[in-house]
Amino acid sequence: MKKIEAVIFDLDGVIVDTAHFHFLAWRNLARELGVDFTLEFNEKLKGISRIESLEKILVLGNLQDKYFSEEKEALAAKKNNEYVELLKDMKECDIYLGIKELINELRENNIKVSLASASKNAPIILEALRITELFDYVVDPDSVSKGKPAPDIFLAGAKALGANPEKCVGVEDAEAGIKAILDANMFPVGVGTPSEMQKAGAKLIVTNTKDLTLDLIVRSI
Ligand code: BG6
Ligand code: MG
Repeated sequence: MKKIEAVIFDLDGVIVDTAHFHFLAWRNLARELGVDFTLEFNEKLKGISRIESLEKILVLGNLQDKYFSEEKEALAAKKNNEYVELLKDMKECDIYLGIKELINELRENNIKVSLASASKNAPIILEALRITELFDYVVDPDSVSKGKPAPDIFLAGAKALGANPEKCVGVEDAEAGIKAILDANMFPVGVGTPSEMQKAGAKLIVTNTKDLTLDLIVRSI
């Protein structure tokens, strides 16, 4: 890749620590359902849509046949209400270290920036962090037919910017997200535990976003 045309970011766990809020809200719902929900299991939900996450929790508790689809919608809404409550404490300063600087650096270098998050709450989170304007495009997760690990959402993030996927970089904290980036033929940057990110296939790994600079990305691709 000679010139980077666009960098496509995941949100939860890459731009801000909302991954932890998702964990807390799912764990509370799982407890109410009598399902033993661990941090390890939570990893499998990262990058996965709300309703698919619920389905996985129900399977974990052997409850997959217990609820009608309206009841599942109600359970997912209950989790989301608690999650949105937790989001209310989020402030501008909660953005991960170095992320705003990185996005500004990309923009100064004429590299486009888009968001490819599975979250329907992404617009309100970007607003709370006051960074909506820094994105050239935010993909609506409902506009793609297949969620992560399928590459669709990253490809949509590139297409909207007129960028060639092979000249795009994707930044993710989830195994499903890294797979989506790889299948989109983009360069995968992983944020998180090196062994896990390496296993997922990330080609550049940072444990802390403060270390992620344009210079490091350019030297790694
Ligand atoms: C992803 C998170 O970014 O968004 C998942 O990693 C979450 O944990 C998914 O389930 C959907 O989020 P929301 O806000 O639409 O429930
Ligand atoms: Mg994430």
